[in-house]
Amino acid sequence: MPLFTSSTRSIPETGDVPRHIAIIMDGNGRWAKKRFLPRIAGHKRGVEIVRNTVKACTEMGVGYLTLFAFSSENWRRPAEEVTFLMQLFMLALEQEVAKLHKNNIRLKVIGDRSRFEAKLVELIEHAESLTHGNSGLTLTIAANYGGRWDLLQAAHRMLEANPGRALTFKEEDLEPYLSTCYAPEPDLFIRTGGEQRVSNFMLWQLAYAELYFTDTLWPDFNTMALKRAIKSFQERERRFGRTSEQLKKNA
Ligand code: IPE
Ligand code: IPE
Ligand code: MG
Repeated sequence: MPLFTSSTRSIPETGDVPRHIAIIMDGNGRWAKKRFLPRIAGHKRGVEIVRNTVKACTEMGVGYLTLFAFSSENWRRPAEEVTFLMQLFMLALEQEVAKLHKNNIRLKVIGDRSRFEAKLVELIEHAESLTHGNSGLTLTIAANYGGRWDLLQAAHRMLEANPGRALTFKEEDLEPYLSTCYAPEPDLFIRTGGEQRVSNFMLWQLAYAELYFTDTLWPDFNTMALKRAIKSFQERERRFGRTSEQLKKNA
């Protein structure tokens, strides 16, 4: 049995506070450039905003927070920046995991780990196993993640688990193999930094997410900015294919 309702097969429960927020944290480089700082200064500052966002989401009762930290396309960046981002990720894991655990947060990392150095893989595995029994916020970091990668790996694993089966697979056959199978679909998608695109983030999972784009650069995305995004979410009518009249009748 799947753990959560699929937005395309039944109408999911909706609440005032989004159950799952997924964020593309964009704009670190531009934030630094504006201050005549190297891009990496923006990434460093970005980690502080992650810390703040995790705290704010916990306080507001958001169940799942998924953050896009490094895309499968980000390897195209200059080698020094890629190396810095990997080191920053390792440092953050080393410094933050004990605190996350103390705060009852469950940490998950999604994405293709095959290109990570052994030490990073170890840190991820340790963090996940330490926090896996926690019942507070589920914090997911998407690292070397791509939506197309996710769909492909899910399809591969689904086919492997069902050898010889006729090709009658349904959505619910694939879903358990998606890298986010432990989480409901995102209710609210936020992209900071002004671009209005999905950049190969959770392609399947975002099917019915409410999209929110803001020009605020990620290092400036404080609690007030997060609350603005949630307020915008609260003003939306989530119809999931139905008409407005149908919703009013059911209310
Ligand atoms: C997002 O900020 C962080 C990562 C992609 C790792 P950017 O580094 O993309 O910042 P901009 O878009 O250049 O300002
Ligand atoms: C998307 O940001 C990925 C992350 C935030 C990790 P980018 O800044 O790399 O996105 P594009 O390539 O400009 O769309
Ligand atoms: Mg960017």
